[in-house]
Amino acid sequence: MQWKPDRHSHLSLHIQIVDWMKTHIERGEWTVGTKLPPQRKLAELLGVNRSTIIDVLDELKADGLLEMKRGAGTFVSNNSWNVLLNKSQPDWHKHIQASIHKPNYHTIQLINEYEQDSCIIRLGTGELSPDLLPTKLLEQSLQSISLNARDIGYSEPKGSKRLRIILSDYLQKRGIHTSPESILIVSGALQALQLISVGLLEQQSIIFQEHPSYLNSVHPFQSAGMQMVSVKRNERLAETLKAGSGKKQSLFYTIPTLHNPTGSSLTPEERKRLLEICAELQIPIIEDDVYHELLFEESPPAMKSLDQTGQVLYVGSVSKTLSPGLRIGWVVAPEPVINRLADIKMQTDYGSSAFSQEIVAHWLSSGLYEEHVASLRQQLKGRSLFVESILNENFRRIATWEKSMGGFYIWLRFNEPVVNKALFLKLIKQKVLINPGYIYDPSDLHHIRLSYAYATLEELKEGLYILLNNI
Ligand SMILES: Cc1ncc(COP(=O)(O)O)c(C=O)c1O
Repeated sequence: MQWKPDRHSHLSLHIQIVDWMKTHIERGEWTVGTKLPPQRKLAELLGVNRSTIIDVLDELKADGLLEMKRGAGTFVSNNSWNVLLNKSQPDWHKHIQASIHKPNYHTIQLINEYEQDSCIIRLGTGELSPDLLPTKLLEQSLQSISLNARDIGYSEPKGSKRLRIILSDYLQKRGIHTSPESILIVSGALQALQLISVGLLEQQSIIFQEHPSYLNSVHPFQSAGMQMVSVKRNERLAETLKAGSGKKQSLFYTIPTLHNPTGSSLTPEERKRLLEICAELQIPIIEDDVYHELLFEESPPAMKSLDQTGQVLYVGSVSKTLSPGLRIGWVVAPEPVINRLADIKMQTDYGSSAFSQEIVAHWLSSGLYEEHVASLRQQLKGRSLFVESILNENFRRIATWEKSMGGFYIWLRFNEPVVNKALFLKLIKQKVLINPGYIYDPSDLHHIRLSYAYATLEELKEGLYILLNNI
């Protein structure tokens, strides 16, 4: 033992020896069960009185770091790590509970966890199955992408100019006439919602959402302190919005095409009416249009294409069509809004991945994207017909559903309120993962969001069979 306390230090010998012993335990040099030399020997080694050693050992015993075993000596106690951890770590539970962002529902946390299990059948996943992703083509297209040094530096606040020019061209086909200056590239549509929630609204603003709503499963507005007001389709829209908004700032979030989770779409008349009512009440609209390319028939016009006053914030993404892992989406909005969101985005992540932006620019400009999406629609249609035939054969007596018009989902409604957490957990035990309706509307115990996009056909068949046996 080389170390000795410093007699010239302003710290007492007692404190120095206590610190020295604690450090040995903390660093794991004296592991649990390590026997300390006898008191007399310690005093001799450290060059101090035995009474100093007795005081030090008493203190560390009282703290729970050391323990005496009668007739055997002094040992590092079993509990020493717990004692040190409790003392040295901040109270993270308290930090977590007091923090701003809401946690996911427990059911969603479990979904995220069990999605990693390769043996589980994913009946609800809102993602393309690996065999629908154009992995090989994506890989090949990397050869065609040329980069210069500017491309791979920090991007412009609004994102790659090239991609924005290409997008403004592409969006014309959706009836949206916009300049690259009014487009912001974001890291997925979800980031667009987060930027809007912190960049355009005061706390306690009202967010009108459809009922049920995708927003209940992700919380970007709830975490920013907004009040959520659900609006049922066909409800007296004007009255509800008027009564709900009052003097507060408000915003209407809608997925008019292939709604998540219901798969339904607003008719052109419903779109017009919603626009008119919101225009009259000066309520901006977020049009979340991430599924529109997956409609099996021709798509109704985007609400943004009918927007004369810059009231619609239009959100798109390649996550549902090309690859969610690229994390590329966009917002189209009046320039001052885009400038504001871009400013916050720069404070958040300094821009989206340059590589992902180049890949998306290449796919859109070369025509690869549209070719791929056309074939994807056909494959999704085949899958939807397959699932509907299983439903028709086996679920008619216990559930109802609408024929899928495109996208990923069938909003399956059971006649009885059977879709509770117990069913969710029971199915997990049988290796089937569902998205219960209650994550989109906490009071809903009737629905399951069935996705035909992810699992293989065999898995869909087996999973539905297991589901049926558990109802
Ligand atoms: C309606 C809707 N909006 C946004 C998102 C998020 O998309 P992204 O992966 O582009 O963030 C999803 C994903 O499930 C969605 O269903």
